[in-house]
Amino acid sequence: MTTTEQPGAQPEPLRSRIAAELARTRARTDALTGAVDDDDLVRQHSTLMSPLVWDLAHVGNQEELWLVRDVGGREPVRRDIDDLYDAFKQPRRDRPSLPLLPPAEARAYVATVRDKVHDLLDGVRFTERPLVTDGFVFGMIVQHEQQHDETMLATHQLRSGPPVLDAPPPPEPRARVAAEVLVPAGPFTMGTSTDPWALDNERPAHTVDLPAYVIDAAPVSNGAYREFLADGGYDDPRWWSAAGWRHRTEAGLTAPMHWRRDGDGWAYQRFGRWAPVRDDEPVVHVCWHEAQAYARWAGKRLPTEAEWEKAARWDPVTGRSRRWPWGDDEPTAEHANLGQRHLWPAPVGAYPAGASPLGVHQLIGDVWEWTASPFHGHPGFAVFPYREYSEVFFGGDYRVLRGGSFGTDRAACRGTFRNWDHPIRRQIFSGFRCARDARPEEAHG
Ligand SMILES: [Fe+2]
Repeated sequence: MTTTEQPGAQPEPLRSRIAAELARTRARTDALTGAVDDDDLVRQHSTLMSPLVWDLAHVGNQEELWLVRDVGGREPVRRDIDDLYDAFKQPRRDRPSLPLLPPAEARAYVATVRDKVHDLLDGVRFTERPLVTDGFVFGMIVQHEQQHDETMLATHQLRSGPPVLDAPPPPEPRARVAAEVLVPAGPFTMGTSTDPWALDNERPAHTVDLPAYVIDAAPVSNGAYREFLADGGYDDPRWWSAAGWRHRTEAGLTAPMHWRRDGDGWAYQRFGRWAPVRDDEPVVHVCWHEAQAYARWAGKRLPTEAEWEKAARWDPVTGRSRRWPWGDDEPTAEHANLGQRHLWPAPVGAYPAGASPLGVHQLIGDVWEWTASPFHGHPGFAVFPYREYSEVFFGGDYRVLRGGSFGTDRAACRGTFRNWDHPIRRQIFSGFRCARDARPEEAHG
């Protein structure tokens, strides 16, 4: 039994935990939307992103659909706007031209919805049906808002103009980290059937048997990535897949997004500020194709999703899979760079307390890590509670990312949490680590 399963047994601690999570999440949404003026809120900063004011009202609309109407059985607050904020009906590119609620109206709308949610939360029973068991649907709505908060943070990174976000720098390195770690052959439990707020694509728990492999003990750093650049990696089709080389050529990729030449070196832009690239930080804002090309250049490959998860969760002493690399306890500031506490990834070695039992560091937080794997349901997958959360994306042109970034909240991240995106995307906070098959003498040594 993990600590997170305990509140489900008692409705009052669960009720107050849900209220606290909703409030904590809304404070983040308010900070991200309050940092800019109304003109900035309605503007589209990139065709890849929505205007911030769309995300805001969409968050409220999802909360209305699931909590106010479905769980609460209440009358709609604004049935007339459902289509405007349906992510499947409105492509991001078109969202700025929609008759969106202006900022003041969007704020009033999400506040009205939230008032009704607090009202119904007082009376909800957490055992009536699967949707509300252990507060699942409330957790789903918290995670949804946090996911949009990370998306809004990515929009901030694409925005031009004076900087508006501030945070202290992440911690300095506190431990030396090995280059690679051997993960011995054998079965482990992937996914979960018991984590109460885990989403459908993380379920069910199932056994995966892997041969021995070697995985990088930390995400690939800017310093290592610069060697790939200096070695002409972007100009050498040998390292790239056919699709990757085509994309690299068409998009004119020459370095990670937000990098520019700075004398002999490189500088990067982070939320409106330029700084020299720091070599010991994980590289961020690379697409899957860039990650794959680097890995091949380095004589390695990207880990599969199962390899990532075994390195993150498998405890060689007990044989069980942990909820997080360090155990089952919720992350603290000592474990991982999560929750927008800082505005960029921490240097390698900054989180020794967050390492896995095998000594793999910074799996959680810092940067989303691209894996080699396309996005599919786990064996035994069942849609819950709606197809559009994940099933409609299975089998598409997506690659799975794991572990969360500095912009991911702990509520929307776990050792089992799965994210996915197109292999050309890099406006997200994406990095990677490499893996390779174990050599025979390593596997049996
Ligand atoms: Fe959404």
